[in-house]
Amino acid sequence: MTEYATVAPDQPLSRSGAIHLYGHDAFEGMHRAGRLAAEILDAIVPLMVPGTETRTIDDAIRAKMLAAGAVPATLGYRGYTHSSCISINHVVCHGIPSDRILKDGDIVNVDVTPLLDGWHGDTSRMYLVGDVGLKARRLVDVTYECLMLGIEQAKPGNTMGDVAHVIQRHAEKHRYGVVRDFCGHGVGRLFHDAPEVVHVGRPGTGPELRPGMIFTIEPMINIGRPDVKLLEDGWTAVTRDRSLSAQFEHSIGITEDGCEIFTLSPAGLHQPPYA
Ligand code: MF3
Ligand code: CO
Ligand code: CO
Repeated sequence: MTEYATVAPDQPLSRSGAIHLYGHDAFEGMHRAGRLAAEILDAIVPLMVPGTETRTIDDAIRAKMLAAGAVPATLGYRGYTHSSCISINHVVCHGIPSDRILKDGDIVNVDVTPLLDGWHGDTSRMYLVGDVGLKARRLVDVTYECLMLGIEQAKPGNTMGDVAHVIQRHAEKHRYGVVRDFCGHGVGRLFHDAPEVVHVGRPGTGPELRPGMIFTIEPMINIGRPDVKLLEDGWTAVTRDRSLSAQFEHSIGITEDGCEIFTLSPAGLHQPPYA
């Protein structure tokens, strides 16, 4: 049984298991947080070249958030000590910024969540470093298409299963594996809230989408099998078969007749190449 709970402006929230339904104030707040997140992903494009250490990217992201009056929601989150996740090649998600240097041919996901005036803008994009092979570029393109196909289904009257189904169908048409072990999530006042936004499923199943819901869609798609494993650091998730993995993420809000994407790139840098 799915429960829905209407959130009043400035109401303190905790995870209750219910799906939170937000009002106009929340959509305004999410627009501001989401735009900042997207601007940051736009601004790091010049750093996404061979020779950059991933911690330099993380430092730039933190500086931009602080300069805008936001804080990185990941900083101190469950013991995580960085301002972004940077996941390269076979890393599925939660790659830790380090002295790893970007090299020619890498495909890289950068995931950021500024917390601005109490609102979490959660988004990630793929970047191509130097010359990337055709197979990898195709994975990145199809993963972007998966996200946008899912977003097309995000409207009142549909269910989470409708969103999941189109993502799974598109990925599997290309013989890719859809990661099951990580999901999208409710977002807003809380970083990770109900519901779980799965990326595989059957039409008409799962929670019904209602106006006021705010959540992420963030499919992780592998060239090979869907299976992941966690590295010793407790964060880095990699494909078990070491195949390449890609991900894009938007934070969206359900409206009366569809949805709003809070994290669209103001510069139009939606999918690579960004040059
Ligand atoms: N931004 C990630 C997401 O999309 C969560 C990262 S949590 C961290 O949900 F601690 F790993 F940073
Ligand atoms: Co997310
Ligand atoms: Co994210």
